Amino acid sequence: MPMKPEVAQEVQPLARWMRDSKNMVVFTGAGISTESGIPDFRSPGGIWERFDPEEMTYQKFLSSSKSRRMYWELYYECWQTFQKVEPNRAHAALATLEKRYQKIRAVITQNIDGLHQKAGSDPEKVLELHGNMWGVTCLQCGYSYPWQEIFSLLERKVTPPGCAECGGLIKPATISFGQALPEDAISRAQLHSVQADVFVTIGTSLMVHPAAMLPELAKQGGAKLVIINRDPTPLDGRADLVLRYNAGDTMSAVLEQLERRTAQ
Ligand code: APR
Repeated sequence: MPMKPEVAQEVQPLARWMRDSKNMVVFTGAGISTESGIPDFRSPGGIWERFDPEEMTYQKFLSSSKSRRMYWELYYECWQTFQKVEPNRAHAALATLEKRYQKIRAVITQNIDGLHQKAGSDPEKVLELHGNMWGVTCLQCGYSYPWQEIFSLLERKVTPPGCAECGGLIKPATISFGQALPEDAISRAQLHSVQADVFVTIGTSLMVHPAAMLPELAKQGGAKLVIINRDPTPLDGRADLVLRYNAGDTMSAVLEQLERRTAQ
């Protein structure tokens, strides 16, 4: 689909702020990966239309075998899809901004797909608030299993058994509703947000707390807040710039503008 001409026009303030920025922080959600072929959660056709989020809480995972079965069904589907997908233009633009222009202090992500790292973002700078799906761990003893081992059981319609080491429950190394966020990632994310001079959210509905408070922290710390999202978000009124376009088009247009401005 050709890029809408107004995108190039509307990204100009962002390109200017980026050029002058010393401390830019990006916060991404499922919407940055839809152009790679991964559905998001809350759009029509999204994951929460087919799986009931109420059944996917950490408490239900611990207490109900029905919820665990549903959970493994979702992960089987995710592993099937996610192992085939590639980063898109938006992930690539972020990696270029970091490598070529040294513009990015941190990429805070709610995504579990690993596509930022695959696109070339420095893994040290990617803060995964909801964990990563490329691992399975025992909730009791912490023993790790390669995802492929569990995937091949699911392929044969076998429900994953308890941990081979201690008999505890095993679970993908991602964060469910009601489960604590990884302490190190969230505290670094908070610090980066407060210190940011430009804070850009990409492809997130900003509905899930506590992650959704990060843009608010950035704003309180004096950052310019830019929201790139196809649909409205509850924080649009707080933003200095809202761009309601596809992440791929928007980030490509920003990169182009920045290239032009730095060449001048
Ligand atoms: N470009 C820009 N925006 C997009 C695109 C795109 N190509 N595709 C989708 N979007 C927008 C949608 O308009 C939507 O508002 O991305 C947003 C995605 O929102 P959610 O589906 O709510 O995903 P996210 O914000 O990442 O969800 C946060 O909630 O249940 C969970 O744990 C899950 O990490 C997830 C968290």
